[in-house]
Amino acid sequence: MLYLEAQGVHTWYDTSHILFDVSLEVHEGESVCLLGRNGAGKTTTLKTLMGLVPARSGAIRFNGTSLTGREPYEIARLGVGYVPDERLIFPDLTVRENLELGIKKGRASGPSWTVERVYEIFPVLIPLDRRLGGYLSGGEQQMLTIGRTLMGHPSLLLLDEPVEGVAPVVVQELTRQILKLKGMGLTILFAEQNMHFAQEVSDRAYVIEKGRIRFHGTMHELQANDEVKSKYLMI
Ligand SMILES: Nc1ncnc2c1ncn2[C@@H]1O[C@H](COP(=O)(O)OP(=O)(O)O)[C@@H](O)[C@H]1O
Ligand SMILES: [Mg+2]
Repeated sequence: MLYLEAQGVHTWYDTSHILFDVSLEVHEGESVCLLGRNGAGKTTTLKTLMGLVPARSGAIRFNGTSLTGREPYEIARLGVGYVPDERLIFPDLTVRENLELGIKKGRASGPSWTVERVYEIFPVLIPLDRRLGGYLSGGEQQMLTIGRTLMGHPSLLLLDEPVEGVAPVVVQELTRQILKLKGMGLTILFAEQNMHFAQEVSDRAYVIEKGRIRFHGTMHELQANDEVKSKYLMI
């Protein structure tokens, strides 16, 4: 079943045309990465899907429902969870309080979450339950941010460079945790520059450059395509 679908999307920031005719599909249960160099348009694509930046033209559908023109809170209510590239934790609230802020009542298009269930995925957070958010490491903050988004019961997760700037050992941990989420049936779309991480967690890839999709295929096909890798990715 088709889950998330963008067709011919154009996005502008004021007078700057950023996304050109972007089309992509993510099927239920899939994990797909959007790869590209810095400034390629990955974040803008995720923001457009989430309704944070309007698509000037084109169509976006989720589970058959049009997202075009909808507000981010409505899109979240339909079951789309967005984890931005900056970690928006509240430094003066505890880990548990930060998670509780993610609770959204009255919808459950994805698996249902509690603080304890989030701790099962991110056991590192258990001893930090009463620690203030401001005292967490970068990796812990990233897990907390993902956990808070899960508390809204999404069925689709949009993750913007989840392992950027975290230590290699934490990248391994996040890899296992994200694979667990995938195993629970969550559908995931990543923006990513880290090809190695993408390889571990994704089924398929789209490559974006200068706001245009230049390639799409399986991770295996991308791995075998030296031209695409050297032209559009940092490898
Ligand atoms: N708020 C903004 N206003 C104007 N231009 C922006 C804004 N945000 C990003 N851009 C530009 O849009 C392009 C794509 O940026 P972005 O989507 O952040 O790329 P990526 O996430 O792949 O690094 C870049 O050229 C960037 O400078
Ligand atoms: Mg970005």
